Amino acid sequence: MKGRVALVPTMGALHAGHLALVAEAKKQANSVVASIFVNPTQFGAGEDYGRYPRQEKEDAALLEKAGCDLLWAPAVSDIYPDGFATKVSVKGVSERWEGEIRPGHFDGVATVVAKLLLAVRPDVALFGEKDFQQLAVIRRMTGDLAIPVDIVGVPTVREPDGLALSSRNHYLLAEERHQAVALPRALEAARAAIRSGTTVPEVLNEAQRALRDGGFSRIDYFALVDAATLEPLGAAEGDMRLIAAAVIGTTRLIDNLAV
Ligand code: PAJ
Repeated sequence: MKGRVALVPTMGALHAGHLALVAEAKKQANSVVASIFVNPTQFGAGEDYGRYPRQEKEDAALLEKAGCDLLWAPAVSDIYPDGFATKVSVKGVSERWEGEIRPGHFDGVATVVAKLLLAVRPDVALFGEKDFQQLAVIRRMTGDLAIPVDIVGVPTVREPDGLALSSRNHYLLAEERHQAVALPRALEAARAAIRSGTTVPEVLNEAQRALRDGGFSRIDYFALVDAATLEPLGAAEGDMRLIAAAVIGTTRLIDNLAV
């Protein structure tokens, strides 16, 4: 482990979920680098790039307290200088779900993560299971490009009521914040139903109903998928994940659960 460097890439507005990545990084390496970069290329037109929370001072203090050794907060022109023309695009695992609803999103993620990894050249890089498809895309990208780095997934950190911590939770109004718990509850209920032998279509219908009853106005997807390929499963088999994305008020939340 001597001389091992870990990288924790973030977009800032740090919370206990990000800090769990730093804590795991400290176990895996002697030096921990965190990056804060609100990456414009992974936001679609009309998404929240402009209003994404930016609080670098607070973030720096949190990272220091968590034992992070170095914070790298590049400017957009550092990452994408004039003339930048390259895109890293991962087929297959990035095409469904978030990839379908947010066209170009994973190209932006794969490109910036490749660039961050090649700049810092860490031995290990840590990503949250909260963004389960992102983790799968990054594993595929680093594998395909043979970037010499271990990719480590860290379990989702949740509020006491079960809501996954997310910078986007700041957008929720008080009433919506109460209702948002319907998302982790629907995932847990679905897992229990699958384990007790309910058919997958029945489970997914019931979950959609529970989310609508719970106050979600739009459900982008609620699916049982193969945990490695993210391909949908019509019946329980192998290593599975429940994944979901839904909108409450003006806020889009995503979550997932191992089955
Ligand atoms: P961001 O949303 O800031 O998240 C940074 C990292 O924190 C990601 O790996 C994400 O999965 C993890 N994370 C977020 N919420 C978490 C939670 N509740 N529990 C555990 N981990 C959590 O994801 C991104 O930034 C960007 O796409 C990035 C990878 C930095 C590329 O721009």
